[in-house]
Amino acid sequence: MTDAALRVAQAPGPASAHPLDPASAAEFEAGRRILAAAGLLAGPVRFAYYGLEEPAKEEVLSPAGPPAGRRLRAFLIDASSGESTDVVVSLAQGAVVSARTLDPRTDGQVPILDQDFAVAEEVVRADPGWREAMARRGLTDVTRIRACPLTAGSFGFPGEEGRRLVRVLAFVHDDEHGYAWAHPVDGVAAYVDLIERRVIELVDEFEVPLPQESGDYDDPEVRGPHRTTLRPLEITQPEGPSFTLDGHLLRWEGWSMRIGFDAREGLTLHQISIGDGGRDRPVVYRASIPEMVVPYGDPRFRYWQTYFDSGEYLVGKWANSLELGCDCLGEIAYLDATVTGDSGEPRTIHNAICIHEEDSGILWKHTDIFSGSAQSRRQRRLVVSFFATIGNYDYGFYWYFYLDGTIECEIKLTGALFTAAHPGGNHPHSTEVAPGLGAPAHQHLFSARLDMDVDGLANAVDEVDVAGLPAGPANPYGNALVQQVTRLRTESQATRRADGSRGRTWRVVSTERANRFGHPVSYTLYPEAAPVLLADAGSPVAARAGFARQHLWVTRYDPAQRYPAGDFVNQHPGGAGLPDFISGDRDIDGADIVLWHTFGPTHFPRLEDWPVMPVARCGFTLKPTGFFDRNPTLDVPPPPHHC
Ligand code: NI
Repeated sequence: MTDAALRVAQAPGPASAHPLDPASAAEFEAGRRILAAAGLLAGPVRFAYYGLEEPAKEEVLSPAGPPAGRRLRAFLIDASSGESTDVVVSLAQGAVVSARTLDPRTDGQVPILDQDFAVAEEVVRADPGWREAMARRGLTDVTRIRACPLTAGSFGFPGEEGRRLVRVLAFVHDDEHGYAWAHPVDGVAAYVDLIERRVIELVDEFEVPLPQESGDYDDPEVRGPHRTTLRPLEITQPEGPSFTLDGHLLRWEGWSMRIGFDAREGLTLHQISIGDGGRDRPVVYRASIPEMVVPYGDPRFRYWQTYFDSGEYLVGKWANSLELGCDCLGEIAYLDATVTGDSGEPRTIHNAICIHEEDSGILWKHTDIFSGSAQSRRQRRLVVSFFATIGNYDYGFYWYFYLDGTIECEIKLTGALFTAAHPGGNHPHSTEVAPGLGAPAHQHLFSARLDMDVDGLANAVDEVDVAGLPAGPANPYGNALVQQVTRLRTESQATRRADGSRGRTWRVVSTERANRFGHPVSYTLYPEAAPVLLADAGSPVAARAGFARQHLWVTRYDPAQRYPAGDFVNQHPGGAGLPDFISGDRDIDGADIVLWHTFGPTHFPRLEDWPVMPVARCGFTLKPTGFFDRNPTLDVPPPPHHC
């Protein structure tokens, strides 16, 4: 199609408050009308993704002011032919501005649709081979069996090329077996073509007994009576919270940021700045967690189990509606999120984003041994968060902003372990969590995209290691400590691993602004230094999740480079995203740069993680380093009592 052919007469879309605000229901509707008028929604066309196409940074920051027109991007798929299209529409022009048909052999597939869950279940329940495999395991009533459609990965198997696939495992869920994750039917996987709607291969490898023990964690017979010893703990702010929310603009104690939300990335934070002496000083232009991959580590029957929860399932689409007093405690401000269903119809997730203030213990404290003066100040943080349920897991995404300029990202992992049968005894890749029930080892590797803007666009990254020096003439007693600072000058030099033994951090410095001692102002990224992707470097998952093979990547800003595993992740053969972004090895010293940070736990499940997992945490910290000229919190008053 040519641009002229795509152009259709259409009234401009509704005006919006700010170019970075999330797309509204009215905008999604307007975009859908443009797509329909362009003939792109004829037939059983579904929306696999639909969201705001953000304007490029230079447009937003242009002295002439941000562009007035808004754009939306959609991944469309014809559910009968599988043909998929990546489309951008301009609401202002009422026109399709670009449309590209995907080649499934090189692009992979668009994300999983809502309907794919039902389609997969329907297909396997109707398949005689699958029914027979279930019957041999004593499961004759297929309505008791829940199909779990899992993304297929890309293994180059003959017969799979170009097909839109899921691999389906089964769990029993009925009156007797109230918690499906406790009752996996192991040894059988149906490979389902979602377009042809049939099983193309049934893998039936072994028969093991169905684990029987109930995992129904709210059943009094499982949990026992509720404890009665916890007394009320109330959080009150009688004068209200200290932040203000004006549309999507959030301000608190000098911090300022815009809150965004996207079906794929979930929460996005924009134009984060902090006040200093009456100035708003930029720190991060845009922060989000645009990808996470969960590779499982059992090499046998389920070797293909690897989920890209953002690129394949769209984390934001699965955001929870949060409840005051349960999910969030205190004086809460909520924002709704608008996502869309398979037909592109808007759906509001009520109270999807939670904003509140928390006491965070001691900010600083000193008892002076000479003067006897004793002073304490309380730390406080602003919390912006959302929770999403993707299959068995529930993930909380929390961003914290502190009075002293610190930013933290914390992911809370909870929910149900993904389960399989367990053969008993010691198994190298799985933990037995109930009789005959195993939880395979896996990793959760998140990628944070941090479009840094430390006091302006011109930034650079120094790797900072700490070291002791060997004894010598300048260090006669061997006690010398130094920082070893290495400027990362190009994209290839900036693919880095964390190193806890060297206390390695990465300092994002301004190449234009200095503090009162003439040193560049900076923010430092403190990684947790947990393992990166452990799968073999030559494995299919290593090719597809290339980003997860390093803790740090730095790229020169490019508005098209948004997703660390590439735009299309589902069944992608690999090589897209960060390894591709850095292939030009651009100069990153004194440039507009983006940091990409991989973090997250390697999870060998514990018995205590079953039947529902207490929250596990991971994340990273960004701290001002010579950004301020001294502790910026001396003006925090003492608590109202007497300290
Ligand atoms: Ni886990």
